Amino acid sequence: MPHMTESLVCSPVDSINGRIKVPGDKSISHRALMCAALAEGSTEISGFLSGEDCLATMAALKSMGVNIRQHSGDSVTVEGVGLHGLKAPSGALDMGNSGTGMRLMAGLLAAQSFDSELTGDASLNIRPMERVAVPLRLMGARVLTTDGCPPLVITGGASLQGIHYQSPTASAQVKSAVLLAGLYAQGETSVTEPGISRDHTERMLGQFGWKLSRQDGRVTLHPGGQLSARMVNVPGDFSSAAFFIAAALIARKGELIIEGVGLNPTRTGFLRILQLMGADIDVSVRTAVDEQRVAEPVGQLRIRPSQLHGMSLPAELVSLAIDEFPLVFILAALAEGETIVSGAEELRHKESDRIGAMIRGLQTLGIDADERPDGARITGGQLTGGMVDSFGDHRVAMAFAVASIAAKEPIHIQDTANVATSFPGFSQQAKNIGMAVEQIAAGGQS
Ligand code: S3P
Repeated sequence: MPHMTESLVCSPVDSINGRIKVPGDKSISHRALMCAALAEGSTEISGFLSGEDCLATMAALKSMGVNIRQHSGDSVTVEGVGLHGLKAPSGALDMGNSGTGMRLMAGLLAAQSFDSELTGDASLNIRPMERVAVPLRLMGARVLTTDGCPPLVITGGASLQGIHYQSPTASAQVKSAVLLAGLYAQGETSVTEPGISRDHTERMLGQFGWKLSRQDGRVTLHPGGQLSARMVNVPGDFSSAAFFIAAALIARKGELIIEGVGLNPTRTGFLRILQLMGADIDVSVRTAVDEQRVAEPVGQLRIRPSQLHGMSLPAELVSLAIDEFPLVFILAALAEGETIVSGAEELRHKESDRIGAMIRGLQTLGIDADERPDGARITGGQLTGGMVDSFGDHRVAMAFAVASIAAKEPIHIQDTANVATSFPGFSQQAKNIGMAVEQIAAGGQS
């Protein structure tokens, strides 16, 4: 695999400065493509993230007959085929590295008249899929997993019934799979969860004109609607911005401003964690959230260097900051005192086992840290330099790149090509704000 040989060498720097925007939100870009494909009419998406994950979703929709054109910059036109306009693909749909792509697509495909198969790369093919197959089967879908994992084989022609699903995990991917299948179901479909997960699907279905209601943590989809094309502006991805937020906090000098970033409260648990750890961040939300909580709030962040302190992280913040934990681990390693992460077993089921990957890397870099089944204990200290493995996980790779800012010696991060799944252009943008990042391409050349 050519991906395996790419790596990053990142060196300490003093100062992080700039005024930047980050690429479009990955979660919202996936949903925009899917909703636009199922809508009546033509949708313009601006701010689309051209990362490998969203491109896999785009390719899957194209192979089911959806006409999608990418223009220069970050805009995309999708000619909607309507709820019943998808055509049988000629082969298995390859969702690459993307759990979101696969799980959301499973919900959508469960309701089609044709058979389909979903597969992915080595990382995706060992991730749990019964979590979506179980509720879809309750709706009447015919979904087979392979020992609980991909490939998923879906038999078309099922007639779906709405369900009231009490999800055992706070997972936007599970909730979204059920809601997307619910578009085709008879009767109401609703989902409740044990914690708050991102609500982009609910917001976007609402934007496309589907009737849904939200009350006391339950989202309910009312049957018999249609999706109507509309303009979608995808905000900057908070989870990509998070790497540079952390960079600016651990630098000794400088100031960073990040503009046009999505600040949906179901995504910004990381800001709350940082504030509890003593971070100096100004947050200004530029778009008000309307009563239906349909629009995606967007705003600006101003970050200054801060001495953080360790703490026991409140478990209710885990689902609100789920993708930022590689960074939380890095910041804990640089904070004063001890940090305890618990209630975060989900991290073991991401693109890698993120608890194992981060703790191994931190131990290699001289930090006193150990794993727990559902989290970790980390004592702040001085990062040395050294060689760490990202285990092919984009967020682990970028978190260690950020860590190098405050390390004694360079950090060499292996197996980093998957950074392009969520943040194409990461290395260049990191350099623009003052980081020292050198990309070593396949074959060892920089
Ligand atoms: C996502 C949901 C989260 C997150 C992932 C993107 C989404 O996963 O980790 O990166 O777009 O729905 P879970 O919902 O499974 O926690």
